[in-house]
Amino acid sequence: MTEQEQILKLREELHQHNYNYYVLNTPTISDRDFDMLMHQLQDLEKLHPEMNDPNSPTQRVGSDLNNEFVTVQHKRPMLSLANTYNKQEVSEFYERVKDGLQGAPFQICCELKFDGLSISLHYKNGILIKAVTRGDGTQGDDVTQNIRTIKTIPLQLPKEGNYPNEFEIRGEVLMPWTSFERLNKQREENEEPLFANPRNAASGTLKSKNSSVVAERGLDAYLYYLLGDNIPGDGHYQNMAAAAKWGFQVSKAMKLADTLEDIYKYIEYWDTERKNLPVATDGIVLKVNSLAQQRSMGMTAKSPRWAIAYKFQAEQAETTLRQVVFQVGRTGAVTPVANMDPIQLSGTQVRRATLHNADILEQLDLHIGDHILVEKGGEIIPKVVGKACPTDSDSQKISFITHCPACGNKLIRYEGEAAHYCPNDMECPPQIVGKIEHFVSRKAMNINSLGTEIIEQYYKQGLIHNANDLYTLKAEQLLNADETNKISVNNILAGIEESKNVPFERVLFAMGIRFVGENAAKSLARYFGSIKRLSTATLEELTQVNGIGDVIAGSIIRYFADERNRNFVNQLEKHGLKMKISQEQQEAKSDRLKDMSIVISGVFTHHSRDEYKEFIEKHGGKNVGSISGKTSFILAGDNMGPSKLEKAQKLGVKIMDETEFLRLIGEE
Ligand code: IVH
Repeated sequence: MTEQEQILKLREELHQHNYNYYVLNTPTISDRDFDMLMHQLQDLEKLHPEMNDPNSPTQRVGSDLNNEFVTVQHKRPMLSLANTYNKQEVSEFYERVKDGLQGAPFQICCELKFDGLSISLHYKNGILIKAVTRGDGTQGDDVTQNIRTIKTIPLQLPKEGNYPNEFEIRGEVLMPWTSFERLNKQREENEEPLFANPRNAASGTLKSKNSSVVAERGLDAYLYYLLGDNIPGDGHYQNMAAAAKWGFQVSKAMKLADTLEDIYKYIEYWDTERKNLPVATDGIVLKVNSLAQQRSMGMTAKSPRWAIAYKFQAEQAETTLRQVVFQVGRTGAVTPVANMDPIQLSGTQVRRATLHNADILEQLDLHIGDHILVEKGGEIIPKVVGKACPTDSDSQKISFITHCPACGNKLIRYEGEAAHYCPNDMECPPQIVGKIEHFVSRKAMNINSLGTEIIEQYYKQGLIHNANDLYTLKAEQLLNADETNKISVNNILAGIEESKNVPFERVLFAMGIRFVGENAAKSLARYFGSIKRLSTATLEELTQVNGIGDVIAGSIIRYFADERNRNFVNQLEKHGLKMKISQEQQEAKSDRLKDMSIVISGVFTHHSRDEYKEFIEKHGGKNVGSISGKTSFILAGDNMGPSKLEKAQKLGVKIMDETEFLRLIGEE
């Protein structure tokens, strides 16, 4: 067998293993063997760039090429569904179908309403050729690159499958709860804004310009609608069963109903059972099963007459409001929180719920003793959504505070922001404790012997006032503080001492400069090399760094403009914390690409795209996504996109191949 043939064979085998694993949940080989096959294929593909295929199983990892989405027209409009919220409306729908079909027998296909974003997939000769978002229903974004990273979406259907040459299949892209929780945890640690629910997270992810981000985030997809000229039969349910055989993930919860009673039973069952599903659902979809009957009923301008969505009530419960407290976070943001009588919601006991901000608090018009409605929908934190009945107490309306509950400073509200802030970031107790907690956290200085309680205790006892004080703590002082025994004192002091070895990038993250998360800190540390250079960098220099925009850059400048922060950092340096990248990192760097903006395009043989990106940064250059007059050159591999090529030629931008580039940076 030639290597080219081996590539084709491996691709087919891996497609099948992917399907067995991700769709059928019954792998037939071990993960290790799977990885071995994948590596074999990767190696062979490297040797044969001419065999490049965007649908190869190796492409599931995505690429960090900036893909700009192209708007495409839908072949058939993507309609939405009319919503109903109660059984009465379901029964009215059922009657309308009966009337519309003039007494002919019919079945209703009941299915789950997945709460993600809809996608249209196009297949030709068994190969995924295009994936388009719903957009405005008539045109959407071409997100094929990103969709290719979703493991349950087949890139290629089995050769012998009995599917039409051309068809479209629609479904929902979702972020499973586990992926969602993992992502938000990561974002919390990196100080990035959290996604409110899996739908927003899935949507944000699918619109990402970088498909390797999509690949990491673990999206999933369920398909629920087959369209085309030659689809197998007249039954929607039967067609979806066929699609499942071709390799698509189709929900096992689909069921045919012969009567209205069957439909009610389905709704009741899934109203509770849905809580055990790995993905979010927000209702039930009812569809006339026969495609001929669907056609005879037709559509309105917005939605089909043959289908309807029944929406579940978000889980709500009623309780009594006992108190509203105002919490101050590490950044000084103030959040109103309701304390209430405990209630059960989505399987957990809830006694606190967020009231978000001043505007929402005002709208809710709350008084202590009010009967309030609390909801736990897709959101992570339960929220107060309203009052169950009008206020029946003479207590005063609760209004937002004007001064910090912890330190008494007047709160401020920045333009365009919903939150109020306490500006006293150096003296306000919860801000100080929050900052020290962040400083010692795992991804920062990783002093795990210091928990929240100990930090609070030491702060209250006047032992620590900021992170610098940790480095002057003495065993005698700690032994005097109650609840701390000798062993834990030794642990704490050892942990603090050890943190002096933490690399500069993590020290920078630990400082807690607003918006400087873990990744930004890493890029900044590598780019500037030392706190000295970073602290004197201009806005222009800062925005040269990959991933640093005006917001982060502005925040860094404000931070170092404040003398108190500069003193804080100087002291940390005196205590022996690392304020420069290591000698090794330093030696590896050069200025060969200083001030250059470089676009990476195409497929490479010697190094991965990520490695090239690192090279560029290491040598002082900037990797940018799109070609402009300012582009210094394009680092081009094979199969550079024709539009990029044309643009480069038009603007007279130099195109450099791998070998030339490696020579330029001295990494041959
Ligand atoms: S069928 C013409 N089936 O709900 C009918 N849609 O409000 C097309 N959705 O845009 C849709 N689960 O994103 C259908 N089992 C399901 C669904 C479903 C979720 C979404 C879909 C659609 C929206 C309509």
